Amino acid sequence: MEQQEAKKDTAWSRFMAWIDERMPVTETMQYHMTKYYAPKNLNFWYVFGVLSLVVLVNQIVTGIWLTMSYVPSGEEAFASVEYIMRDVEFGWLLRYMHSTGASAFFIVVYLHMFRGLMYGSYRKPRELLWLIGMAIFVVLMAEGFFGYLLPWGNMSFWGAQVIVSLVGAVPVIGPDLMEWVRGDFVMSEITLNRFFALHVIALPLVLVMLVFIHIIALHHVGSNNPDGIEIKKDKDENGIPKDGVPFHPYYTIGHDLPAIVIFLILFCGVVFFMPEMGGYFIEHPNFERADPLATPEHIAPVWYYTPFYAMLRAATFPLFGFDAKFLGLVVMGAAIAVPAVLPWLDRSPVKSIRYKGMYSKVMLGLFVVSFFILGYLGTIPAGPMATVLAQICTFVYFAYFILMPWYTRVERTKPVPERVTTR
Ligand code: HEM
Repeated sequence: MEQQEAKKDTAWSRFMAWIDERMPVTETMQYHMTKYYAPKNLNFWYVFGVLSLVVLVNQIVTGIWLTMSYVPSGEEAFASVEYIMRDVEFGWLLRYMHSTGASAFFIVVYLHMFRGLMYGSYRKPRELLWLIGMAIFVVLMAEGFFGYLLPWGNMSFWGAQVIVSLVGAVPVIGPDLMEWVRGDFVMSEITLNRFFALHVIALPLVLVMLVFIHIIALHHVGSNNPDGIEIKKDKDENGIPKDGVPFHPYYTIGHDLPAIVIFLILFCGVVFFMPEMGGYFIEHPNFERADPLATPEHIAPVWYYTPFYAMLRAATFPLFGFDAKFLGLVVMGAAIAVPAVLPWLDRSPVKSIRYKGMYSKVMLGLFVVSFFILGYLGTIPAGPMATVLAQICTFVYFAYFILMPWYTRVERTKPVPERVTTR
C-alpha cells in the first residue's frame, strides 16, 4: 500500500491528476485501450480496420505535403505533378506513397468489409456501425474519384468526363445537373478547382469524422469475432467478459503491430519497385497531359471502381421507358448501396459463416467470384461476350443480397459453442 502511495506521488502522476481533473484522459484511455475487452479469438481478418487507419493517416500526411507544391489550374496542374516528381526533394516518394496509398486503401477496406460478410459483423447490435462503415465507403469512393482528376492527365480528364456525363442521363434534370456538377459547359479548370476543394478539405474532413464515430460505435457495442458469439453476455464476478482480453497491450502489440510492420514492408515494395503496378495503380494514359481532342484508346477507371463500372456497362437495353445509360447508373448506384441493408436481410439464427449452412457458403463464394470477374471485365473494352458475362455476374452479385432472407432461413445451421473457440 505504501509502495502504491509512493508510486502515485511522482511528477508524472501529479501532472496526470491535474489533467484528469480537467479532462478525462486516463479514463478515456482505459475505456478505449486497457479496459476495452476484445474477444480473445480475433484472427488475421481483424487487422484490416487498423490497417485502414494507417492508410488514412498516410493519405492525409502525404496529401498535405503534395498540396504544398501542386497547382490546381488547367495550365499548370500536369506540370506541377511532374515538378513534384523531378524537382521537389523526395516529391516522387510523396506522390507514390499517395497514389499507392489510394489503391492500398481500397484493398484493406474491401478485405475489412469481406470480414464483415463472413462473420456477420453487420448483425445486431452492430447495424449502426455497419451503416457508418457504408457511409465511409461511399465517401472514400468519391474522395478517390475527385483526387483522380487532379494530375490532369488524359485518363484523369476522360475518366471524369465519362462519369460526370452519366449524370446527364438522369431524366428531365440530367443536362442541368451535369452542368452544375462540372460548373461549366465542358470539363474545365473550374471543374478541376471544385474537385480539388472537395478532395483536399471537404471529404477528408467528413471521412475523419466518420472514422471517429465508427470507432466510438465499435467500442460501445464491442467487437464481434469469428465465432459470432457476444462475449459481453458471459462476464465474470468483476464484470469482465470471460472471453475478453484487454485490447492494450494484447492486440496492440501482439496483433496490430506485427500486421502494420508486414503491411508497411509490402507497401514499400510497391512504392519503390512497382508504383504503377503495370498500369493498375497509375494508368498509362495519365502520363500524357489532359487533351480534350484526344480520347484514350480505351477509357477505364482505376481497378477499385471496375466491378461497379462493369455493372454500369452491363445495362445495355432500355426498360420501363428509361434508357440504358440511366439504368446503368441506377444499377451501379444500387450495387454500391445494397450492402447497407444487409443487417435486415440476414435472417440466420447464427452470425458467423463457420456455423451457417451450405447455401450461405456457396452464395458468399459466388458473390466473391462474380466481384472479381466484374473487376476484370471493367478493365477491358466491352464486347458481346464480355457484356453477357457482366450481366450474369451482376445478377449473381444482386442475388447474394436479394435471396439472403430466403437462403439464410431455410438452410441447416451448425450449433454455436457456448464460449469462443481459438484455432
Ligand atoms: C477508413 C475506413 C475504415 C476504417 C479506418 C475502419 C476502422 C475500423 C477499426 C479500427 C475496426 C476495429 C478493428 C477491426 O475489426 O478490424 C473496425 C471494425 C469494423 N468496421 Fe471498420 N473501418 C473502415 C471502414 C469500414 C467499412 C467501409 C465498413 C463496412 C461497410 C466497416 C465496418 C466495420 C465493422 C462491421 C466492424 C466491426 C467488425 C467486427 O467486430 O467483427 N468499416 N473498423
